[in-house]
Amino acid sequence: MSNQVKIFDTTLRDGEQALPASLTVKEKLQIALALERLGVDIIEAGFPVSSPGDFDSVQRIAREVKNATVCGLSRALEKDIDACGEALRVADQFRIHTFIATSDIHVNAKLRKSQDDVVEMAVAAIKHARRYTDDVEFSCEDAGRTNIDYLCRMVEAAIHAGASTVNIPDTVGYTTPTEFGGIIQTLFNRVPNIDKATISVHCHNDLGLAVANSLAAVEQGARQIECTINGIGERAGNCSLEEIAMILQTRQQLLGLSTNIHSQEISRTSKLVSQLCNMPVQANKAIVGANAFSHSSGIHQDGVLKAQNTYEIMTPESVGINKNHLNLTSRSGRHVIKHRLNELGYQDSDYDLDEVYAAFLQLADKKGQVFDYDLEALLFFNQQKH
Ligand code: KIV
Ligand code: ZN
Repeated sequence: MSNQVKIFDTTLRDGEQALPASLTVKEKLQIALALERLGVDIIEAGFPVSSPGDFDSVQRIAREVKNATVCGLSRALEKDIDACGEALRVADQFRIHTFIATSDIHVNAKLRKSQDDVVEMAVAAIKHARRYTDDVEFSCEDAGRTNIDYLCRMVEAAIHAGASTVNIPDTVGYTTPTEFGGIIQTLFNRVPNIDKATISVHCHNDLGLAVANSLAAVEQGARQIECTINGIGERAGNCSLEEIAMILQTRQQLLGLSTNIHSQEISRTSKLVSQLCNMPVQANKAIVGANAFSHSSGIHQDGVLKAQNTYEIMTPESVGINKNHLNLTSRSGRHVIKHRLNELGYQDSDYDLDEVYAAFLQLADKKGQVFDYDLEALLFFNQQKH
């Protein structure tokens, strides 16, 4: 089995459908080009049948993106698949992604069909999509809550019908990592010819487990992860691309897996998506939050000044951030004050460190965070005294 995990980005489809306002075609193209630079393997550009605007943006992205496969979503219906085929045929490489729900809850309450009917619809949809391309992905919506025997039957039928990727979504973010990893393991143990397709996962974050579940799945043999920038997506969102990519990179020796992601592009792609989607990133978000490479405790600051890896498991540069940040607060020690003044261009002989540090602590106790301009003012007063 290959050690390469494909990154399938659905920021423009699952992510975009959860935004308060739609993105323009131009904005979607900007994001698609940023994803291409980031090195994602597949860009899910939209759901062409859903609106003329979505059709146009999928077509525009299909025309402009050259170094990633462009994908469109369709229900297991001919008219959806035809819209995908029509929008995507201008692309150098494209994929049609078709899906139908497989859990009892969805099959009975939403589709109101028998399990046999649903298998038949899936098979017909895959065969129809194969008229446009060999690159057909099939998703078993709500796989996380699907009876495992039925899921095995559906995956087998999908591969037999010609799906080259079979996606196992945890649509409502319900499973736990051990449980979800177990589902993938069972599929590998029980589905004949499973090696003929790439097994993909698409995890939602309702219990905050989307990244952990995706990781558990690749540990059991899944080789495609569906994810979004900043984890945006339906409800609590999807598996966050930057988190899963940096887990696979940072823990490469442990996991033995790799991706094509150029991690130095992560920060600017995250900023672009946050701005265009009007979705701020929480400060303590892993990898891309404002605090992800900021140190506040004096002990930590002293540690990273001596050796960066004391408190950093990856470098800020590896995700495209210039350098880490040391917050100057009442927890900061004199070592960091001296270091910051040095960075600001002052020599040790320019000031009395004990006095400046005492004044700094007084100010920090009142103010919380002390900024560079505060520090320079303290230095100015200290110099006036002498
Ligand atoms: O969450 C989900 O099940 C989906 C499918 C369409 C893949 O978004
Ligand atoms: Zn989804």
